[in-house]
Amino acid sequence: MMRAVEYDRYGDAGQLSVRTVPKPQPKRGEVLVRVHGSSVNPVDAKIRSGGIRMMSGRKFPKRTGMDFAGEVEAVGPGVADVALGQRVWGFLSDVSGRTGAAADYITVRTSALSEAPTTLDLVTAGALPSVGVTALRALRDVVRLQPGEDLLVVGGSGGVGSIAIQLGQVMGAKVTAVASAANAAFCRELGATRVIDYAARGGPSGEFDVILDTYGGSLGAYRRLLRRRGRMMTTSIDGMTFALLSALSPGPRVRQMMARSRRADLAALAESVDQGKIRPVVERIYPLESLGEAHHAVETGHARGKKLIAVVSD
Ligand SMILES: NC(=O)c1ccc[n+]([C@@H]2O[C@H](COP(=O)([O-])OP(=O)(O)OC[C@H]3O[C@@H](n4cnc5c(N)ncnc54)[C@H](OP(=O)(O)O)[C@@H]3O)[C@@H](O)[C@H]2O)c1
Repeated sequence: MMRAVEYDRYGDAGQLSVRTVPKPQPKRGEVLVRVHGSSVNPVDAKIRSGGIRMMSGRKFPKRTGMDFAGEVEAVGPGVADVALGQRVWGFLSDVSGRTGAAADYITVRTSALSEAPTTLDLVTAGALPSVGVTALRALRDVVRLQPGEDLLVVGGSGGVGSIAIQLGQVMGAKVTAVASAANAAFCRELGATRVIDYAARGGPSGEFDVILDTYGGSLGAYRRLLRRRGRMMTTSIDGMTFALLSALSPGPRVRQMMARSRRADLAALAESVDQGKIRPVVERIYPLESLGEAHHAVETGHARGKKLIAVVSD
């Protein structure tokens, strides 16, 4: 048996409870991972609240949590590329809540994980997989950021934005961040040379080659800051309508992307961590029993990197 966080109906963070459930068995091509660290992403809270029930469905109980970092405790039939005891990380892409990384153990296909960074402990590593792969794929593959370009990161203090500022700087861009005034100094510490307060009168200003939005609002105002041949994308579900319509209306198209837990991207991310190019930004560590508190904090107040969940128990 093992612990897992579950809920029986859509609602507030108080629905989450730690339960004792059967330990899963790895199927063909899967491994059993003992989870040490996980983290809360806005989508976890959105699923739990019923905000995307069209996608998450009506089957309960549901589990929660995507990110994981931990150790391989058992391997399923046919697994030859991952070894027992290996330190691994990745994220689950299950919006149905059938599985969840806020648990002592999960089963994962080996193609959806890679070796975890050697320079991070496995609790801290749980802060990075989903936001790290999202920022990496966004800047490298979708908007194809080039050295010397001016990059605007909207939501620079958040999970995705805090990694995108660091990656943008490493890729040779000049980075401006949009965040609350309270988080301006934090964005500068990460590598932003200028910070725009989203609540300031008069709206955002400047000229940019690339805009990475992680907030999903005011996309028209940001798009007006793009230079000719500029590229823009949003990671937010709230930006989906604007992005779709941008393909049909005059002006640059706003792109979207859904990050997948793929071994090559996770390995590239781990390498960047081990080379000291990026570091996870952990706002606070919560024990598994306090996951509801972490969900509540994600839904209210300002972000400063990730709310991390320590799952491992002695
Ligand atoms: N497509 C994918 O594969 C993928 C993967 C991961 C995440 N996502 C999505 O990407 C989005 C960002 O995730 P996250 O983890 O980075 O979220 P987060 O940690 O909650 O960060 C949100 C950011 O938005 C900023 N913000 C708040 N109000 C704003 C406003 N009025 N104008 C501009 N910025 C504002 C916040 O600034 P302050 O904290 O300073 O107020 C914070 O920096 C979410 O919608 C998430 O679901 C998508």
